[in-house]
Formats: sequence, structure tokens, C-alpha cells
Amino acid sequence: MLSFFILAALASTSLAVKPIHSHNDYTRAVPLWDALNLSIMSVEADVWWVDSQLYVSLVFFAVFSVAHTSGAINKAITLDGLYLEPILGIINGTVSSITPISVENPLQLLIDFKSDGPTTYQPVLDALQTLRTGGHLTTYANGVLTQGAVTAVGTGNTPLASVVAAEPRDLFFDADILQLYSTKPGVGLEWGPEIAPLASVDYASVSSTAEMQQLVLNAHDFGIRSRFWDTAATVSTWDNFWSAGSDWVNADDLLAVSNAWAAFQS
Ligand SMILES: *[C@@H]1O[C@H](CO)[C@@H](O)[C@H](O)[C@H]1NC(C)=O
Ligand SMILES: *[C@@H]1O[C@H](CO)[C@@H](O)[C@H](O)[C@H]1NC(C)=O
Repeated sequence: MLSFFILAALASTSLAVKPIHSHNDYTRAVPLWDALNLSIMSVEADVWWVDSQLYVSLVFFAVFSVAHTSGAINKAITLDGLYLEPILGIINGTVSSITPISVENPLQLLIDFKSDGPTTYQPVLDALQTLRTGGHLTTYANGVLTQGAVTAVGTGNTPLASVVAAEPRDLFFDADILQLYSTKPGVGLEWGPEIAPLASVDYASVSSTAEMQQLVLNAHDFGIRSRFWDTAATVSTWDNFWSAGSDWVNADDLLAVSNAWAAFQS
């Protein structure tokens, strides 16, 4: 059930946000900083649960596996070392960043479960513990959604049933934007930002610009933000999304999309 307070919370945090999501982070050497240095407040980490660690890329895992098996786990390739520690440090002021992360300027952390969903779910929750203990995670508890400095959203193999069952809930779900009206998140439940702050789809599944525009409106009906991935990387494509009010344009070339957004606004 969509409450006025949820919509008010969404509206109050959406004003200054650049509508850009940093996709395919693992292809960059310093993905979190590439995004934050451009004030892009939505980033994505792929995670594999392997040998009791959450690795952000199996490619890196293969490269570093010699060091790994000899006992030295390279923090540069774990979710904790590459994302969660620096994020906590930026929030608590021990790590300097030109873009702050705060309740007023929150970061959306998309966690793409690449390994088996049910097996990976608890390790991801455990990894978020330091942010949780600090009170920094957006949380849904007792029917109230409270914005935190970090909104963690599971995608890929993230198990919806586990997300829905969690109380309190501080790992959310990336819904299928094509299915918001045809499915429910659970018995007696409706889609909303307290379950899925984000709804996405592969753009190849969208047949026309008109359908895309309708899907954005559908998501907004539920108080959910929209994202399309695997799109053409052209200024006119990005402008189309922004014209439709789509919230997160999926970007690989962050500088090019940032420049396009600046031009679109002026
Ligand atoms: C981000 O900005 C900081 C401060 O200006 C700089 O030290 C760092 O090298 C930048 N990192 C990237 C990846 O651009
Ligand atoms: C601040 O964040 C860092 C992680 O970057 C952590 O090691 C440290 O314990 C935190 N300090 C406080 C006071 O929360």
C-alpha cells in the first residue's frame, strides 16, 4: 500500500539527484570514485559468493586467486574493500570525497547477485552490518520507510521472497518494470518503494519509445523509479529517457552521460 509519506520521502530526495546510474562498474579500476567524482549517486556492484568472500568480479578473482589461496584476501576485489568501507568512511568523515553521501544526498547501491540467490543473500546482509549499525541504511520497519544515506537494492539473482520476508528490511529489490501491473510481490502485497525503490528491464524487451514512456509512468504510479539497461549509448537515446522522466539512465561512459545531462538541462 502506497502511503503519502513514502511519496513525500521520494519527492524530497529526488530534487538534486542526477538521473544517472553507473553500470558495469567492474570494468573500471576505481568504480565508486568514478561515479562520486561526477556526483553520480547510483552505483552497481556485481557480487559472487566464493570461498566465504563476496567478490565483485570473477575476472579479478581469477587474477588474484593465487594470493587468495595463500591466505591474503585482496580487499581491492571484495564488496567490502571496494565499496562498503569507503562508503562508510565518506559518511563518517574519515574518507574525503568531493561528493558527500548523506540522508540529504543518498547513494543507491545496486548489488547484482551473480552467484546463487538464496546462498548469497545472507552474506550480503552480513556485509551491510557496519552500515546498518551506524544507522546509515534506508530501512522499512513497522510500516514506515526511512531514508538513509545508502539505499541498498538487490538485483540479478536476489531472492524476492527473502526481501519481502525481512523485518526490518534494508536490502530492497529491483522489480521487473514490465510486470508491475501483472504480478504482485507477495500474497496481499502491492509493489512500492518499501519493497522495490527501482524497477528495470533490458531495453531490448521494450518495443517502442511510446512503450518506454508508459513504463516510466507505470513505475511512478507505484512510487518506483525506472531504469532501462542495455540501451544505445547516444545523446539522443539518453535525452529520450530524460524527456520521459526516466529516473536512472544506465551509463558506462559516465563523463559523456554527465555532459549530456548538463546540456539537456540547459
Ligand atoms: C576523484 O577525485 C579525487 C579528489 O579530487 C581524486 O583524488 C581522485 O583521483 C579522483 N578519482 C577518480 C577515479 O577520478
Ligand atoms: C568510519 O569508517 C571507517 C571505514 O572507512 C571505519 O573503519 C571507522 O571505524 C569508522 N569510524 C566511525 C567513528 O564510525
